[in-house]
Amino acid sequence: MQKPLLIDRISTSCQMHFMNNVQHVMKRSVSALAFLVLASSVLAACSETASLRRPSSPVQRCINMGGALEAPNEGEWGYTIRMEDIDRIKAAGFDTIRLPVQWSAHAGTWGGYQIEDHLLDRTDEVINYALSQDLKVILDVHHYYDLNMEPAKHERRLESIWKQLASHYESYPDTLIFEVLNEPNTNMTAKRTDALNKRIVRQIRQSQPHRWIILATAEWGSLTGLLESAPPADSRVILSWHYYDPFSFTHQGADFFKPTPPVGTHWGTKADMDRAKADFDRAAAFRDLHHQPLLLGEFGVYDAAPMEDRARWTRAVRELAESNEFGWCHWSFSSNFRVYDPEKEAWIEPIRAALLGD
Ligand code: GLC
Repeated sequence: MQKPLLIDRISTSCQMHFMNNVQHVMKRSVSALAFLVLASSVLAACSETASLRRPSSPVQRCINMGGALEAPNEGEWGYTIRMEDIDRIKAAGFDTIRLPVQWSAHAGTWGGYQIEDHLLDRTDEVINYALSQDLKVILDVHHYYDLNMEPAKHERRLESIWKQLASHYESYPDTLIFEVLNEPNTNMTAKRTDALNKRIVRQIRQSQPHRWIILATAEWGSLTGLLESAPPADSRVILSWHYYDPFSFTHQGADFFKPTPPVGTHWGTKADMDRAKADFDRAAAFRDLHHQPLLLGEFGVYDAAPMEDRARWTRAVRELAESNEFGWCHWSFSSNFRVYDPEKEAWIEPIRAALLGD
């Protein structure tokens, strides 16, 4: 369902255009009727261009390949990507996979910070297969822990990693999408993240003017980080945010987080829904202000949560993303927030249905 276009969603340039016309009419003291006719025509044109200008994300229904190349070594966190999983994802109706890769675990620590060939080879294998199946692929830099702790020491290394990736994937089609950095946090403040994002976008643009680039923002890619960010004006940039609220619900039983939120927390009252809707309204207003597509790059619930609530939250958040015209990317395919159970070789039906709308 499309949201109605409200006055506060009309672009800043249109608002300025409107004000200029008001001034013009007032200077010439034309009749009230003439003013109303002019004002309504400008506003109608603005509404139209605002919706025309709102660029839609090339990614609509995406799934994160979490827990695989995201680990220091694929398989160490219990999941190894299989090509038949990519077939399953395509057949189920997703259009994109996001591939989180821990590049920092396999790049040199000095000089050219060279990425190890075996990781590039494996990444190529997954990307090539997914592209050949007509899926888009988001390639990201995940879990660069040291960068978040000591940015001054590591920013150059990330820039060099991107220099290598940009050159390695230069000839790939635009259906391969780059994501500069997953969930900047701690000392990667909003300001620092903005500056680094800008430098890396400029660097990638030297060879790839058309490639879509996704930019995450500080504070773990949350709504707070998104609202604090100042993205570069680039028509092929997609802004990204992650939604895991309320954290005590989505991360119940997630033992990688200490103290682990207790299991048994429910979600789904009207107040819960209203809170989520208000968060999405704020994200949409930010997107409209910047006229750049917005991707909900991660959302999901840990699998220890009560299944009915997990499915209810997943459906509600996915619907909010769609009604606000955000693309979305569920966290994740397998691993611990999963929608597919590799032991049973079956989709977890309530979560699959919550995502794909049946
Ligand atoms: C982030 C983390 C990932 C985690 C997920 C949910 O993407 O990088 O490891 O599983 O969020 O917390």
